[in-house]
Amino acid sequence: MGYKVVVAGATGNVGREMLNILAERQFPVDEIAALASRRSLGTEVSFGDKTLKTRDLDSFDFSGWDIAFFAIGAKATKKYAPNAAKFGCVVIDNSSLYRYDPAVPLIVPEVNASAIMGYSKKNIIANPNCSTAQLVVALKPLHDRATIKRVVVSTYQAVSGTGKAATDELWNQTKGMYVPGQGVAPSIYPKQIAFNVIPQCDTFMEDGTTREEWKMAAETKKIIDTSIKVTATCVRVPVFVGHSEAVNIEFKDFLDEEEAREILRNAPGVLVVDKREDGGYVTPVECVGDYATFVSRIRQDSTIENGLNLWVVSDNLRKGAALNAVQIAEVLGQRVLKKG
Ligand SMILES: NC(=O)c1ccc[n+]([C@@H]2O[C@H](COP(=O)([O-])OP(=O)(O)OC[C@H]3O[C@@H](n4cnc5c(N)ncnc54)[C@H](OP(=O)(O)O)[C@@H]3O)[C@@H](O)[C@H]2O)c1
Repeated sequence: MGYKVVVAGATGNVGREMLNILAERQFPVDEIAALASRRSLGTEVSFGDKTLKTRDLDSFDFSGWDIAFFAIGAKATKKYAPNAAKFGCVVIDNSSLYRYDPAVPLIVPEVNASAIMGYSKKNIIANPNCSTAQLVVALKPLHDRATIKRVVVSTYQAVSGTGKAATDELWNQTKGMYVPGQGVAPSIYPKQIAFNVIPQCDTFMEDGTTREEWKMAAETKKIIDTSIKVTATCVRVPVFVGHSEAVNIEFKDFLDEEEAREILRNAPGVLVVDKREDGGYVTPVECVGDYATFVSRIRQDSTIENGLNLWVVSDNLRKGAALNAVQIAEVLGQRVLKKG
């Protein structure tokens, strides 16, 4: 016997990828419901070789359903997730709504799978921000060996991380640059994204950091260790899929780059591609559709006592969202629900 599974936000970037990954990994599904807003009623989405018609989340009855993947943004999640959880359906949420709630576990299975047991307080499990998920997969095995004190990270984030409307904005703006009279003004982003980079992801906070930068610090602490200091600069780049991160790490203990490379080679979810030659590293276009967090450019930082630099790339719609959510469901299935 398998699970009765709901995907809320099935017409979005993350929801569609969620359906792909559930099918790809042969998650034991007995019945599946693809939900979105009333606007999308009847829209067809793919689930393996099947086609599902999208149903209206607003009128959906969650009783008897086992797991609901939510990928609909924080505002709509606040309205609908408590109702699903109340009916005994475990919510795995992609929005930021519950990530910092002490009664909700924030899970990256390669890093803190055992924290999943805290789900029962609210029947909700949070999925991290896309830029955090790939970062912590790379940091955790190094932290276990040499104890990370501080991380300085600069991100190069793809537009698909902002949703399907942002993906359209990059596409239309890029085309519009070449066709007289068809220029597209910024609408989702505050400045032109085509052929440009924007040093702002999410909104500004009072101290001048952006919420995305704050999220990376807060989530890394919650997932790995509250004593790790993280300072981030998050930048949106004209890439459709695949977030990249330049990461500088300061450790308590010395960690040789060769040993770091070996640790990362053996770490779950990590693939090391690090040849010191032209092209001997991974770029975002190469990570699309892959499950791994790729680590390249591993090198000592000799300007500080125990420093290391890394280049970390992953598919933001997969490890950064849908894959991580499905992995959470797999752990929940093995440890708690025990169906399939
Ligand atoms: N993209 C990423 O890399 C990423 C990574 C981590 C987390 N997330 C989070 O995942 C969530 C979804 O992101 P996305 O990139 O997939 O966004 P998206 O492409 O804009 O899709 C949004 C989805 O939510 C649905 N939706 C919106 N408001 C709704 C409502 N009131 N009732 C029912 N359905 C509603 C939309 O349905 P309609 O088509 O009917 O409007 C659509 O299916 C967000 O919370 C985002 O922060 C995204």
